[in-house]
Amino acid sequence: MIVDEREHGQILESIHLPTLLASSDVDTETSLRWWHKAVLYEVFLRSFADANDDGEGDIAGLVSRLPYIKDLGVDAVWISPWYVSPMRDGGYDVKNFLDVDPLFGTLEDVQNLIDASHELGLRVVLDLVSNHCSSQHPWFQSALASPEGSKEREWFYFKDGRGEGGNEPPNDWKSIFGGPAWTRTQNPDGTPGQWYFNLFDSSQPDLNWKNEEVLKHFDEILRFWFDRGVDGFRLDAVSAIGKDDDYRDMGFAPDDLYRPDIWGPVPFFDADGVHDVLRRWRRVAREYPTEKFLVGEVVVRDVDRLARYLRRDELQSTLSFDLCKIVWDANAFRQMINTLQSACFERRSWMTWTLSSHDEKRTVSRYSQDGPAEGVLADVTQTGRERARSGYLLALTLPGSACIFQGEELGLWEVTDIPEDKLQDPIYFRTGKQELGRDGCRVPLPWEKEGTSLGFSSSHEAWLPQPRGWADVSVATQLDDTSSTLRFFRSVLALRSTIFNDDEWAFTWDPSPTGVLVLRRGPDFRCVVNFSGEPFQIGPDEEALVSSSPLTHELVIDVNNAAWLRARRSATN
Ligand code: BGC
Repeated sequence: MIVDEREHGQILESIHLPTLLASSDVDTETSLRWWHKAVLYEVFLRSFADANDDGEGDIAGLVSRLPYIKDLGVDAVWISPWYVSPMRDGGYDVKNFLDVDPLFGTLEDVQNLIDASHELGLRVVLDLVSNHCSSQHPWFQSALASPEGSKEREWFYFKDGRGEGGNEPPNDWKSIFGGPAWTRTQNPDGTPGQWYFNLFDSSQPDLNWKNEEVLKHFDEILRFWFDRGVDGFRLDAVSAIGKDDDYRDMGFAPDDLYRPDIWGPVPFFDADGVHDVLRRWRRVAREYPTEKFLVGEVVVRDVDRLARYLRRDELQSTLSFDLCKIVWDANAFRQMINTLQSACFERRSWMTWTLSSHDEKRTVSRYSQDGPAEGVLADVTQTGRERARSGYLLALTLPGSACIFQGEELGLWEVTDIPEDKLQDPIYFRTGKQELGRDGCRVPLPWEKEGTSLGFSSSHEAWLPQPRGWADVSVATQLDDTSSTLRFFRSVLALRSTIFNDDEWAFTWDPSPTGVLVLRRGPDFRCVVNFSGEPFQIGPDEEALVSSSPLTHELVIDVNNAAWLRARRSATN
């Protein structure tokens, strides 16, 4: 998890962006652009909506539900990879970056989607997988068929093994998904060959980003999709493309199976070379007359390293999942927010805040646990539901953009009883079935109150089975209920678009009792989150604009709840 080694403490100073712009070397291209306070809605395509009734979500299904996304009040959709893929890792194993997988549709469907989104005023942000491709990608196939030392093998990380006959992996590095990070190849004559590096699954060989041909191919990929009208890219695991290839051992034990904590502090993450690649991509993005947004999934060890990604000629924003990793605790939230925001202050840049994604356990489930959401999860509680809404009020208060994973607006919970024969996540298999993996947050959305897959497909069963209780939290059910989580999100997002100015770039923490966070933006607005064990009394000079649950008393915010408050206007105003 990221830390702020400089121990900044509080961010106390309120900074007004136009003043800052006038007085600093801020990149004016990035000042006040569409994404500055945008809310992105993450669509995991396979689980969003199925138009051709095969039980798998597709692009036409997404097009049919665009009005729902628009009505939610977001500004953009971030769509999980739709490229041609064997689907060994949910589409993050790409066989052809320049086409659409038939499971999801066609290039024509993509064009319809982009055009229809733009007509509704929604931007389209696509996921770019660059650290690796699929082992079925023609490049990897030709590397396997080519001799050691060939130019084809230079596109990846091929190395000789250690020990007798090269039977041991080149070093002790671990895959993030569990097991070793090296896979042995077979020579065309059937004898054991070299090893290749795979940070994730063995079906995802890492690309060598020091290779000019790899760099050129990705320039082409960016232009291919930008030319079709894509407004930006979420850069998948981008800090992993910088590798410090001295191949030193890390001291991992051979039976050290699952090490998700290796995101960050290891030589195969965040080496300086990544920044040359990001500059190159930003130059490509700048070839277009409309601003293209590059937001990176950046996992690094400290604020100084994070701030480097936000330099004026690199990324406009980073998407951090650190907030998803912390437990429900005021200090933890405050510390993490300060840490991430410090990087933005340093670079005069913007964070994309999120509590959820297709890789994280659902928020209502996480916040229903007493401690970290690990191992067997306890059932969802009312407390978890309230905390999830409160967490979103906090995240949506922060300056910068925000991202909401599909289904969070319905309060969906993590599905923990998916039958084993339906589980797909490589983490489950690579950890010897010790870790359930990420399928539980990817279960297809419930749209209707009834039907085989609650309106996800018209008659087919969904590719991952939906829990029975989801009829009660379906979109149709929640639209009929003014106190539903969906209605809550709609109100919050509508308010957010009007109450915060584009140029309000900073916030302060107001003094507050232990366990209560009070985040101020501007003279009139505060967000109060009550993490403590006692109700929190609001002063008479403030009124609640929206709250996580109906306030039991006009001036009291209950335990686990939150509210947006505005200074009361006097009758004469
Ligand atoms: C994506 C994951 C994916 C991994 C490998 C991540 O950061 O969000 O879903 O498994 O990259 O591509």
